Amino acid sequence: RVAYVNGRYLPHAEAGVHVEDRGLQFADGVYEVIAIEGGRPIDLGGHMTRLERSLRELRMTMPMPPRAMRLVMREVVRRNAVRIGILYLQVTRGTYRRDHPFPPATVAPTLVMTARSGVRPTSAMVENGIGVVTVPDQRWARRDIKSVSLLPNVMAKQQAKDAGAYEAWQVDRDGFVTEGTSTNAWIVTKDGTLVTRPLNHDILAGITRDSVLTLAAQAGLTVEQRPFTVEEAKAAREAFISSTTAAALPVVRIDDASIANGAPGSITRQLWDLYEAHIA
Ligand code: PDD
Repeated sequence: RVAYVNGRYLPHAEAGVHVEDRGLQFADGVYEVIAIEGGRPIDLGGHMTRLERSLRELRMTMPMPPRAMRLVMREVVRRNAVRIGILYLQVTRGTYRRDHPFPPATVAPTLVMTARSGVRPTSAMVENGIGVVTVPDQRWARRDIKSVSLLPNVMAKQQAKDAGAYEAWQVDRDGFVTEGTSTNAWIVTKDGTLVTRPLNHDILAGITRDSVLTLAAQAGLTVEQRPFTVEEAKAAREAFISSTTAAALPVVRIDDASIANGAPGSITRQLWDLYEAHIA
């Protein structure tokens, strides 16, 4: 395996950044996870646009022009011989002696990329659905920025794992679900309407969320972008999560409550199939 670090392709086992990298010391950086199918990145335009936005919001700049970055991405995928898998990309504010304010503008950002095969839901997860637990959302107020500062997400995901669930749905102070730790959250109401939280600073603008919205509209499904409570979700006809790595994965249990009859729902299944066709 090969990793890209600041202009060099290094053996994965030896690839690293400096001990004073701001990503390490302050989580001062952003990232993207891009699905690879048939050796090609999925929805690359959306990921690049979101990366540029995350950087801009943190007053950082692209480490290289987007076209050059796309070439490096393709090369990392190629050198790792990934057909189906993920590409991970991270940009930090660079290496400088530890001090909270930004380093001088002459300090270059750190760009890191890795790629690996696999990383897809198992067929059991797709066939049987997954469980989620609900936890208080303990993150900062700018969850729209894809920051590498993921400690609350890590803690919540481990809590899910400890409970035998796959994901944790984070809940705001008013009892509304924001999103999962690495996925967006959806429900389907009794009358077949898809519901997912609208975009603002509360959640990440998932690229898969956007694809699912488009596919749902094309299929003539009704969608409402509004917050929903844990109670509404537990009483829903269906629930699912969306992300680059999870596609549109059925949720059949929320805490101790089964969703409908405890089996994946038909609309979720339809969206899964549409999404599979979209990335094929
Ligand atoms: N996570 N919400 C959060 C908090 C996320 O971290 C992610 C992605 C999503 C879904 O976004 P997308 O559809 O663009 O993957 C929603 C990535 C996969 C990760 O952290 O591994």
